[in-house]
This record gives sequence, C-alpha cells and structure tokens, in this order.
Amino acid sequence: MSTLKAVRGTRDLLPPETQLWNHVEASARALFARYGFGEIRTPVFEATELFARGVGEETDIVSKEMYTWEDRARAASEKAQSLTLRPENTAGVVRAYIEHKLGETGGLQKLFYLGPQFRRERPQRGRYRQFWQIGAEVLGPVSSGSESPLRDAEVLEMLASLLDELGIRGWRLELNSVGSSTDRPRYVAALREALTPIKHRMCEDNQRRAETNPLRVLDSKAPEDQDLINSLPKIADFLDDASRDHFQQVLAALDACGVSYTVNPRLVRGLDYYTRTTFEFTVADGSGLGTQNALLGGGRYDGLSEMLGGPKAPGIGFAIGEDRLILTLQAQASYDALFRRHFDIYLAPLGKEQNAYALSLAQYLRNFWRPVLRTKGFHVEVGEGNFRLKKSFEVAEKLAPVIAILGEEERAANLIKLKEFAGGEQRVMTKEELVRYLSQNDPTLKVPGETYTDGMHEVSGRHDSVNKS
Ligand code: HAM
Repeated sequence: MSTLKAVRGTRDLLPPETQLWNHVEASARALFARYGFGEIRTPVFEATELFARGVGEETDIVSKEMYTWEDRARAASEKAQSLTLRPENTAGVVRAYIEHKLGETGGLQKLFYLGPQFRRERPQRGRYRQFWQIGAEVLGPVSSGSESPLRDAEVLEMLASLLDELGIRGWRLELNSVGSSTDRPRYVAALREALTPIKHRMCEDNQRRAETNPLRVLDSKAPEDQDLINSLPKIADFLDDASRDHFQQVLAALDACGVSYTVNPRLVRGLDYYTRTTFEFTVADGSGLGTQNALLGGGRYDGLSEMLGGPKAPGIGFAIGEDRLILTLQAQASYDALFRRHFDIYLAPLGKEQNAYALSLAQYLRNFWRPVLRTKGFHVEVGEGNFRLKKSFEVAEKLAPVIAILGEEERAANLIKLKEFAGGEQRVMTKEELVRYLSQNDPTLKVPGETYTDGMHEVSGRHDSVNKS
C-alpha cells in the first residue's frame, strides 16, 4: 500500500520548530496588546463572493488561486452556495465589522488575527498552499480618526518594532501611495494609454496584464521588461492634493519615529482594495527566503467596507507571512537555546513496581506552586521502570542535569536518591528537600505550609497537587 503524505504545498510543523512559532506568536500578541489591539477570529471559509468583491475578480488570487467548491444544500432550509477557503483575512475582518455593526460603537476598531490562509500557488521555498499570517486591521467610521495618516504611521512603526524585537536583521520598508478611489482610475487610464504602443515588446504575461489589469505590469520582475516599465507614468503624478498631503504626513511621522523607509513608486500590490498608503517589508537576498523576499504587506483600504455593502469605514492593515518570518529567523539567528529540550530533573523508577511512585512524584514537582514567581512547578521527565539503570542514565544525561533514582527502598521510605551529572555524591532526600534543591536559583521559594515574607507581604506557600505517595 502506498504511504500517505501531506498534500503538496502543505506541511507539518513539528517540535522543536514549533517552539519558535510559539515564541513569534507570543511576541506578536504581547506587542499588539501594548498598541491596543484585540484578537478577532473569523471562519476559515467564507462565501466566494466575499473575495470576488473584496479582493477583486481580476486579481491573481481570485482568478486562479482560490480553493473554491460548490457546497450543496443538505436540508430544505439550506441553499447551495459557493464557498472558498480564505486566501487572506482582510475581507473576512471587514465582513465581520459590517455584520456585527462594529461601526455603530463609534470607536476605532483595532483587531489582530493569526491563522492559516490558502492559495493555490506553485509551491517553493517560502511559498505554500496553506501558509500562516499574523495580521492586524485598524478601521472605523471617519469620526473615529480611521483616515488619519497617524494610523498608517502607527501601524508601520509597530511592525518595525516587532521585527526589531524578534531580531530580524536588514529589513527594508518600501512604501507608496496608490491614491484615492478617484486618483486610481485616472492613473490606470494613463497607464493603459502608455502601454498600448509598447506592450507588444513585453513578455507574454505583461501583454496579458496590460489588457486585464495594467497595474500588475508594475509588479513584474521580468528582466527584459524593466526599462519599459520604468518609463511608464508614475502614480505620484496622479495623486490629488489630499492624497499627496496624506502620504507626506505618513512619511513625516515615520521620520519623527526614526523608522527608515524607501518610497517605491512601483509598489501597487496584488489586491484591488488598496487606496493611498501601500507597503511591504522585505529582507535582503541570502536571508533564507530566496525569491519570496516579502515578509509582509499591507495598506489602506478606505472603500472596502462599501464594496462589501457596509458603511463607510476607512482602514489600514497588514499581514505578515509567518512561514517567511520563521525561515528568516532560522537563517539569521541562533535559536538553539530556545530549542534545547530542558528538564530540571529526570526521574528513573527502578522496576515497574516503582512506576506509580515515580509518576506521583512527577505530578508533585510539575504542579508545585511557586508563589513569588506565580508559576507552577518544575520541568520533569519520567523514565520507565523496565529500563536498566545504565539506559536511564544515558537517556537522562541528554535531558536534565540531575537524575532521581527511585528504587524499592526509596519508595518504601518515601525518599529520593539524587545524582548530579556534573559530579558529586549520590544524596538521599525527602521530596521537600528535593524542592529546595531544585529551587536553588529561586531563593524565594518555600515548601507548602510554610509562610515567608517577600520583603513587603507575608505570603503563604501552597501547592495545588494532591500528593498521593
Ligand atoms: P498579501 O501581500 O497577499 O497581503 O500577503 C501578505 C503576506 O503573506 C505576504 O507578504 C507573504 O509574506 C505572505 N504570503 C502570501 N502568500 C503566501 C504563500 N503562498 N506562502 C507563504 N506566505 C505567503 C494580504 O494578504 C493582505 N490581506 C494584507 C493586508 C491586511 N492588507 C491590509 N490589511
């Protein structure tokens, strides 16, 4: 029988790598909280129409990359419906904003999300069919200040802080303004006109884009077309005064915060909902991403809510490609310390009769309440009574600095025989003594039932586990 494998473009994430994922996610959550963002969780699939209307029929995402199926009615009360696995999450967030009437609160909504997205792209390093995004959206009625350039700059400064905090080196912020919903059609018309006499000299892809979605030509990486593309009209020359002023204010706020950036007049991005500020953060070649060097992208979408049938709700947001962020961290930094499997102690029962004693001791140590640290317990691994002592030592040495040998005698007397791998005598001790030994670096820790002072308050030590031994 042939063995089954994960579907092309999808992958399993395993420990210890998942520790790095959790570290990134915990850092992002903590940062979002500092900037006033709350978490939103939207469904993984939505009505196909949401993406067709929101992201745009002509985009690569909607025209060729979506996982779409006809969901048949299963009851008289249900209608057949075309559904799609979300290729991105901005449309879903704005749908939820409209559905839950979040605009009626009058306030600015600052929402973040974290989760898988699905695009049927050609898989390669940094490009998957199921990939993860960490994203955020800031939106609300105009009266909440949602249109302010301050919001754009705040989001960009937050991203710069996150990348710095995670230790990403050499990131580059590129940004542009693609203008308002009135600037953009004027620019697209000019672009179409400029492309007409020259498009036959371009590659096949660009000839097609010149017809269907001329903005996409600006994204093209085809080397032979670069001179022609650089000669095309620039969107900056088509911005009205309000858009130009908005962009200048974003740049001024970034300067004030010391966030470095490059204005890239060709940055238009692949989704139709963008207006005004658009941006991408990239990393230099050799940072582990190969050609997929966009770590994250985003921008303003002042008309998206109305495109989806909602009230006016200007907004700005971004999505980080978490897979790409992780690949970059792995290439740039040493996360060995984070990955090391570390236990405070390894418990080695001698004979299967000692298994239950070993497990109850592990339970006691793992759940021991450490009052001042306000955290529970120690990291404990338990062996197996059938292991020979030699094997227990071999396994334990790789995992922990000390081993507790639990033989018949120790069990009968409720004691532990402890051996440090760094040398030293074997010592026999009670479990209270063992807790003191393990918390040598934690002088504030006391065993259950004792009271102590942390300098200001008297606190009573306790532990939540039931000691059955
Ligand atoms: P996007 O540029 O399509 O924007 O995707 C954002 C990021 O997701 C990319 O920069 C990339 O890092 C990552 N990404 C995209 N496709 C893949 C893939 N196939 N494999 C791995 N990573 C991928 C959006 O999705 C917008 N919703 C961002 C946004 C939020 N704009 C406003 N608010």
